[in-house]
Amino acid sequence: MSCRILVLNGPNLNLLGTRETDVYGTATLESILADVRRAAAEHGVEIYDVQSNSEGELIDALHEARTRADGVIFNPGAYTHYSLALRDAIASISVPVVETHLSNVQAREEFRHTSVVSAVCLGVVAGFGADSYLVALAALRRHLAHQASPTARAD
Ligand code: DQA
Repeated sequence: MSCRILVLNGPNLNLLGTRETDVYGTATLESILADVRRAAAEHGVEIYDVQSNSEGELIDALHEARTRADGVIFNPGAYTHYSLALRDAIASISVPVVETHLSNVQAREEFRHTSVVSAVCLGVVAGFGADSYLVALAALRRHLAHQASPTARAD
């Protein structure tokens, strides 16, 4: 099944590799995206990506995904915890969105335990470092394959 997935990253994720490496690891966003592209290509899945530190640009990318993507892997960064505008944007599109975090947000500070976007996402992946994106990709790909052909195997 051929499909296209948007990997969308929010504020401060452009600094991965140097940012709080004890929490987020040393992989750069570039290297994470390269791994996702490689894994996606094995299944004929096309990836495009957007990173922005601005809420409005993330909303625009979600809107654009309506006609450009079959699914979205989305790490909203700190916006996860309070952006009702991003939550509304996700709820406004029919494209499935997987909320994705490098860290296990539930095991961190209290303010990170709340996600205002989880309820409008297909699912949540958190805590596997850079591999969270690969787990999200596998889950989303299988979901899309199953939707396209309910009796077909995803692999
Ligand atoms: C994060 C977790 C958020 O709480 C934080 O603000 C981030 C990164 C993660 O990937 O673990 O910027 O989304």
